[in-house]
Amino acid sequence: MKSRPYGYPISQPNERRSSFDNHIQRRLSALRNQFADGKAYQAMLDSGDALVYEVYENRRPEVAGELLSGLSIVHPGCVGNEYFMTKGHYHSVRETAEIYFCMEGKGVLVMESEAGETAVEEFYPGRVVYVTPRWAHRSINTGGEDLVTFFVYPGHAGHDYATIDATGFRKRVLDHGGVPTIVDNPEWSGVNA
Ligand code: F6R
Ligand code: ZN
Repeated sequence: MKSRPYGYPISQPNERRSSFDNHIQRRLSALRNQFADGKAYQAMLDSGDALVYEVYENRRPEVAGELLSGLSIVHPGCVGNEYFMTKGHYHSVRETAEIYFCMEGKGVLVMESEAGETAVEEFYPGRVVYVTPRWAHRSINTGGEDLVTFFVYPGHAGHDYATIDATGFRKRVLDHGGVPTIVDNPEWSGVNA
């Protein structure tokens, strides 16, 4: 791991492997119970475990003072009429923020707080989204190309996937005749449901 300042290029797809030291691939099977249409999910899974999104990152010590950064790439696709999306998470240390910078594609970042607030911010190339501390976040690709975002967050943040796994998000983004539409999630099952 580097102990001096360093730089790396990230704009070209062929630079991803050399610029990052960790590559995570998340397939449909990792998103069980997250899509509204369970039948469409199972049918898609039966025909092959599609690659939904990938993360490239640079390992740094997971301590306050360090920053973790990388690329999140959500591929285009739908399960039923619900767009491909990330699992989504709170940071384990709730008081930690995150910045996303959209490099390619089109989509949204769906966010919610444990206090019951919700927010949806658009992603398009050149747009930054600031995730304030205590907000869970999930990237959703509403376009026909890869949604590529660069993210940065504090080294000690950690990831709490279990909360979202159990409750889902309060909002879903569905394709209604080609138009991304934000709807309430009737299956949301948190403490205030
Ligand atoms: C890190 C972060 C992103 C996501 C990435 C994949 O805190 O928010 O790097 O990790 O977009 O999403 P998840 O982690 O929800 O599978
Ligand atoms: Zn995060």
